[in-house]
Amino acid sequence: MESADIQSEDCPAPAAKSTREHQTIIAGRVADLPPGRSLSVAREDGNELAVYNVAGEFFATENACPHHGAPLAGGDLCGHVIECYLHGWQFDVRDGRCLTVSETIPTFRVLVEDGLIKVDVGQRMAGR
Ligand code: FES
Repeated sequence: MESADIQSEDCPAPAAKSTREHQTIIAGRVADLPPGRSLSVAREDGNELAVYNVAGEFFATENACPHHGAPLAGGDLCGHVIECYLHGWQFDVRDGRCLTVSETIPTFRVLVEDGLIKVDVGQRMAGR
């Protein structure tokens, strides 16, 4: 239930691996994001994504909590629920639904190919 900034010599900073092809961002390697962990990924527009490993299944949301903007990847991931570390709002990372108040966060389609976690930022699935 920890978050991680995942970078290594084999896997440069995520923003450096962004591609415009299909508006897909390479978030990192599957092997570097174990179950129950999350990571943040910088986008070229200055925003960030949060990527989560829920029992081997990957999900992505915007990284900013809609309450006061805390990075959700820094929160506690318990099952499919991320809890914001600042004031405890909880979100279902599968659909972006807030479990604390009537609110949602955008979610994005995640693909796993060749051991890489790829987020399709051109295909927002839910949320604002
Ligand atoms: S900033 Fe996330 S709950 Fe307040």
